[in-house]
Amino acid sequence: MPTKPIPMLFALLALILSFTSSVTALGTSCSVPLGAGTAAPGEPFWLQTIKHQGTAAFNPNPAGYQVFRNVKDFGARGDGVTDDTAAINNAISSGGRCGGGSCHSSTVTPALVYFPAGTYLVTSPIVPYYYTQLIGDARNLPTLLAAANFVGMAVIDADPYIPGGNGAQWYTNQNNFFRSVRNFVIDTRRMPAGATGTGIHWQVAQATSLMNIVFQLSTAAGNAHQGIWMENGSGGYMGDMVFNGGKFGMWVGNQQFTVRNVTMNNADTAIFGLWNWGWTFQGVTINNCQVGFDLSTGGVTQETQTVGAEAIIDAVVTNTPIFVRTSQPSNGRLGGSLVLNNIKLNNVPVAVGVAGGATVLSGGTTTITSWGQGNVYSGVNANGAFTQGNIPTPNKPAPLLDSSGKIFGKTHPQYAAYSLSQIVSVKDHGARGDGTTDDTAALQAIFNQFSGCKIIFFDAGTYIVTSTLTIPAGTQMTGEAWTVIAGKGATFNNINNPVPVVRVGETNSQGLTEISDIVFSTVGPAPGAIVVEWNVKQPANQQGGAGMWDSHIRLGGGQCLV
Ligand SMILES: *[C@@H]1O[C@H](CO)[C@@H](O)[C@H](O)[C@H]1NC(C)=O
Ligand SMILES: *[C@@H]1O[C@H](CO)[C@@H](O)[C@H](O)[C@H]1NC(C)=O
Repeated sequence: MPTKPIPMLFALLALILSFTSSVTALGTSCSVPLGAGTAAPGEPFWLQTIKHQGTAAFNPNPAGYQVFRNVKDFGARGDGVTDDTAAINNAISSGGRCGGGSCHSSTVTPALVYFPAGTYLVTSPIVPYYYTQLIGDARNLPTLLAAANFVGMAVIDADPYIPGGNGAQWYTNQNNFFRSVRNFVIDTRRMPAGATGTGIHWQVAQATSLMNIVFQLSTAAGNAHQGIWMENGSGGYMGDMVFNGGKFGMWVGNQQFTVRNVTMNNADTAIFGLWNWGWTFQGVTINNCQVGFDLSTGGVTQETQTVGAEAIIDAVVTNTPIFVRTSQPSNGRLGGSLVLNNIKLNNVPVAVGVAGGATVLSGGTTTITSWGQGNVYSGVNANGAFTQGNIPTPNKPAPLLDSSGKIFGKTHPQYAAYSLSQIVSVKDHGARGDGTTDDTAALQAIFNQFSGCKIIFFDAGTYIVTSTLTIPAGTQMTGEAWTVIAGKGATFNNINNPVPVVRVGETNSQGLTEISDIVFSTVGPAPGAIVVEWNVKQPANQQGGAGMWDSHIRLGGGQCLV
């Protein structure tokens, strides 16, 4: 069970949207605006075909260390017949990377492990080492297929248990940072229905994400399959996933997590909550399950803690007997706190109930606007007043909502519709990313030339800037295995005169601006660094047109080799 929270090592910035009252500057203009993607049908994802020249600047041997790994270059066949387990794990682990229970964290061995379209048969887990992105062809999702005789915890195991280790794992769960898994179908249906066929064992912490994954699980009566299994950690984000079948879509316990845009079809229990401090689920669709959310409740000590706080926002639940079931009746603390907001039920007889006990809120075919269960505190009074019923609806400003009234969300852009000719690499245009060269002028020139005309690809590396780098409004840029842009030198050393390392947009600027898979950081003490200053606003009528995804601000250094 969870122990004490560790101090936050990383300040995470998932998404910043900043609104200013007046707009004076537009994005950069260039001769041929980017426009829509032009990838031909059948063309692979540009990430597969782009020249691979990412490096790990602080690796002991940057010239010999490979960041981008195509599993087929390591012998994986993707033919649905050959056992690809060893080849895939070799693609992940080669190059002296951080894992195996002896290395707990390192930022000097990043890897992007790429899977072309195909069906990859595996007989034991795929293990993503520390600082790994597993990315499939976003245009034609590869399938990870568990063989009938698959042995192990899950098709992807982000934190393996050490055999004979008395519960010890490779990584400390609250420190299991920097993992992302994207663009896969994970299929356990060949495994016996009674086996605990599991898609992903995701015991992770901050700077992690799961996105665009379809889980194909057994639909046999009484099956024991599950999409995601997570027993503890300190996360994290996941979204854009579909779960078909299974005993559990997700079986999850973790300090905190944000989940958005998930669909669960035909599971016994869509989501089982083991424990948490606070989880938010937004945009949940549940079809034909027995129970939507089954929450373990009633533990009140650190040793016995169960689900502490569950917020479910914008759900549509259909043909499912029970939407939410807690294991204990709530009296404030015992039931944890539960907030339901904008929940549409279609043929769901029980909205909230207690296992083996009372119906707390009956369902039917109806909408729950705002309902809560738990203690409400006011002022300095430490004694909460137990509430179980309708609660005031929070004010949600219109710009935050989509056309159906749900909270607006925008998926991490991957530019899957774009052809290779629409992408430019910064290393092809004079930037070095070697952790020592001053790349300020080269990067500024690249932005000035290409923003608004091309997607700008930041090949893996550490790009040093010695004065403020302005990412103009209208820039769409993406990194590779969390490319680092780091401020260094005298400009950022005056605590009394802090200066931005990266400025996104000129003051009051406006334009389609997207940043993904980037770490913003500093080298040395840099007490006068404002790591990122955000000034840009989305274009009119382009909701979510200015944002960051899977991007992080890292302070206080990042080269720990343990
Ligand atoms: C993680 O969770 C499992 C399952 O609840 C539990 O048995 C284990 O002790 C936990 N480990 C840690 C380190 O919290
Ligand atoms: C939700 O996720 C699906 C993939 O599961 C994706 O196709 C869809 O665009 C996403 N919707 C939103 C609003 O992000």
